[in-house]
Amino acid sequence: MLEVRGLSVSYGGINAVKGIDLDVNDRELVTLIGCNGAGKTTTLKALAGLLRPAAGRIHYEGRDITAQPAHRLVRQGLALVPEGRGVFGRLTAEENLAMGAYSRADRARIEADRERVYGLFPRLAERRRQLAGTLSGGEQQMLAIGRALMSRPRLLLLDEPSMGLAPLMVQKIFETIRAIAAEGVTLLLVEQNAKLALEICHRGYVMESGTIALSDSAQALLKNPQVRQAYLGE
Ligand SMILES: Nc1ncnc2c1ncn2[C@@H]1O[C@H](COP(=O)(O)OP(=O)(O)O)[C@@H](O)[C@H]1O
Ligand SMILES: [Mg+2]
Repeated sequence: MLEVRGLSVSYGGINAVKGIDLDVNDRELVTLIGCNGAGKTTTLKALAGLLRPAAGRIHYEGRDITAQPAHRLVRQGLALVPEGRGVFGRLTAEENLAMGAYSRADRARIEADRERVYGLFPRLAERRRQLAGTLSGGEQQMLAIGRALMSRPRLLLLDEPSMGLAPLMVQKIFETIRAIAAEGVTLLLVEQNAKLALEICHRGYVMESGTIALSDSAQALLKNPQVRQAYLGE
């Protein structure tokens, strides 16, 4: 579904991502783990069309999408839930969901999808008229995921969905990620919580200083002594 070859991304003179290869198969759950500053967010932004690669190719569903802008990729079913959520604080929860469907004209199905999001996140249904800026961190994360789902993604890129959340809320978010995957959405998940991410994903990549240091099945990475020491705190 996604084939990345030799992807490099720079900020001015700083090479944040240095020629990485990465694949995600249809209906697969893949995680990208690594320390702060490793280049995970930069990678996701380039895949989502928010940053222009300095080099390399990105193929999605067989088409070359390198350097295509984000709004066109969203229409092709590739959506990003950004780090730090980025909800519109002065709009209500429901208005935020409507923003996620801006590229669509099929009113009846948009309403059905909104109900589906409320089904996944009953808490958002209760707070649909509340300003997003007044929601808790966990509720804002639910809203950010819900908003991305409103574009009917086939490939969803998630950047640190558990960041800053209390343990119970982290559990809830991960349960929902599983539920979304069970509906047939393919996922590329960036997480600081490497253990949880590897427990729900099929495969994982370990990123270090802009390169892919390791890639293996999630099970193998969970058992890998290097990974256990560096990323699982063991
Ligand atoms: N907007 C930016 N301008 C300049 N450098 C940046 C910018 N965003 C990130 N970087 C740098 O790029 C590298 C990778 O960052 P990032 O992709 O955010 O890492 P991660 O998500 O793995 O923590 C870091 O060295 C970071 O300082
Ligand atoms: Mg990041």
